[in-house]
Amino acid sequence: MLHCGRAIFLWALLSHMCESFNIEDSVESFNFIHPAGLASQAGENLSTSDEGRSPSFFGYNVKLDTSGSFMVGAPYFTDTTNTSDEKNSSSRIPTGNLFSCHLMGNTNCSSIRPPDLQPGNAFGQSLELSAEGDLVACSPTQKQMCTSVNYNPGYCYKTSDLGQAWNPDPRTINTSCPIFALDLMFLLDGSGSVGADNFERVKNWTKAVANNFNINDDSTRVGVVQYAHFYDSLPLNEQPYIVTEIALGEYNSTAAFGEAVDKIDLFSFTTYTAHALNKTVADFKSSNRFDSDSTAKVLILLTDGRSSDAEYLEQSAAYVRSLGITTFSVGVGRAVKKELRVVATGTDTDERVYYVSEFSGLNEIVNRLRNAILNFALEGSSSGDVSAIAYDLQLAQIGFSSHYSNKKSV
Ligand SMILES: *[C@@H]1O[C@H](CO)[C@@H](O)[C@H](O)[C@H]1NC(C)=O
Ligand SMILES: *[C@@H]1O[C@H](CO)[C@@H](O)[C@H](O)[C@H]1NC(C)=O
Ligand SMILES: *[C@@H]1O[C@H](CO)[C@@H](O)[C@H](O)[C@H]1NC(C)=O
Ligand SMILES: *[C@@H]1O[C@H](CO)[C@@H](O)[C@H](O)[C@H]1NC(C)=O
Ligand SMILES: *[C@@H]1O[C@H](CO)[C@@H](O)[C@H](O)[C@H]1NC(C)=O
Ligand SMILES: *[C@@H]1O[C@H](CO)[C@@H](O)[C@H](O)[C@H]1NC(C)=O
Ligand SMILES: *[C@@H]1O[C@H](CO)[C@@H](O)[C@H](O)[C@H]1NC(C)=O
Ligand SMILES: *[C@@H]1O[C@H](CO)[C@@H](O)[C@H](O)[C@H]1NC(C)=O
Repeated sequence: MLHCGRAIFLWALLSHMCESFNIEDSVESFNFIHPAGLASQAGENLSTSDEGRSPSFFGYNVKLDTSGSFMVGAPYFTDTTNTSDEKNSSSRIPTGNLFSCHLMGNTNCSSIRPPDLQPGNAFGQSLELSAEGDLVACSPTQKQMCTSVNYNPGYCYKTSDLGQAWNPDPRTINTSCPIFALDLMFLLDGSGSVGADNFERVKNWTKAVANNFNINDDSTRVGVVQYAHFYDSLPLNEQPYIVTEIALGEYNSTAAFGEAVDKIDLFSFTTYTAHALNKTVADFKSSNRFDSDSTAKVLILLTDGRSSDAEYLEQSAAYVRSLGITTFSVGVGRAVKKELRVVATGTDTDERVYYVSEFSGLNEIVNRLRNAILNFALEGSSSGDVSAIAYDLQLAQIGFSSHYSNKKSV
């Protein structure tokens, strides 16, 4: 009798979707929740006694397949199978669920949920069945574990065997925390070979690159380290020739930053690039948003020659990158291509490596560098406004609506 009631109720459900009633359910059984006026349509009063459970929105989305079974989404489903956690209210936050139901004899639904559902998902809100029987089911409210922002990019799973094996949608795998901020350090070679005139060009170039980013609203913070010689006897933060000329974020206007850059005097000495790389770590860490995965950390090295501490270059650059800092290297004149690659990526490629034969050519790479920073560090956008990038990502919520073409794929 009860099973019969279920079948009737499901049909009532399907035909009265606009009335927004729904069923609360667990994997084993259903409890129907419905407006009082509809009780008689279901033939019986079904329990709402199971205190603490919430409605599941069972039937929010329904798809019939060709074999006579149907898929039902329940995006507000709460997993109550984990009774070990009965007292913990977090465990009652819905995850959503998806059911495969058969209409042969008794209506029999079984959960075909994908793995790894988290509290706050609304799995089953969006589901789509292809002509081939592939099923895509989405939770548009999947939370991403970001340190400083609340980010719900959404996610989708796909199955070709009605839920026995689920594969995450590739776009889902690649969603990462949106970038809201950029911490950018320049590491400028102040060795003697640069010369005073060319150092003026380097300073102009530094200002030009920095001008591409918005430092007025704190979305980008810029700093400058000049380096030349390293003394073994002194700790990194007391080196007279490896110096933070401008602390990260010290200036919040282009004009003030430019004036500070203009005041930097060339050291004229050796080229301890590896030690200087390590020095920048303290500068990056001085930023209170260093640990935030919504902050892109970018280092631009500019050098015109061979490093005096080449034996440490590889491990120092790898260390800096291991902290989530994206390294770019710009070589001028007699700069060593291999060293530039070691600093940029540690590979044999010219990725994030820039080279010009004369200091006067630096101007030509301002825009390329700007675009590359935005592409590599800020994931595929060419907008110069860091906060706008985050906004774009927020609007691109995956899984709010999924769609299969009616055409069979060939
Ligand atoms: C169903 O529930 C309503 C409201 O609680 C109650 O008035 C009614 O008597 C119940 N019907 C049956 C058959 O139990
Ligand atoms: C039940 O909940 C506890 C606490 O949240 C968790 O550690 C455990 O893995 C859960 N068990 C299952 C089967 O999900
Ligand atoms: C309650 O459950 C949530 C999510 O499963 C978990 O993060 C949290 O640690 C649990 N709290 C307690 C007190 O067990
Ligand atoms: C419901 O379907 C499942 C799997 O298809 C089956 O194992 C189970 O026995 C069925 N239950 C009923 C009451 O028909
Ligand atoms: C996901 O990221 C990987 C590694 O970065 C990349 O190779 C792949 O093309 C990306 N996939 C999509 C769909 O963007
Ligand atoms: C640097 O820029 C200033 C202002 O645009 C310009 O006057 C100066 O000639 C430039 N210096 C060099 C060496 O290019
Ligand atoms: C810029 O810095 C100055 C001085 O440190 C400060 O008074 C001002 O509030 C800052 N402006 C913004 C927009 O943060
Ligand atoms: C920089 O720091 C890393 C990690 O501590 C270390 O492996 C490397 O040798 C250091 N480089 C220099 C030049 O001291």
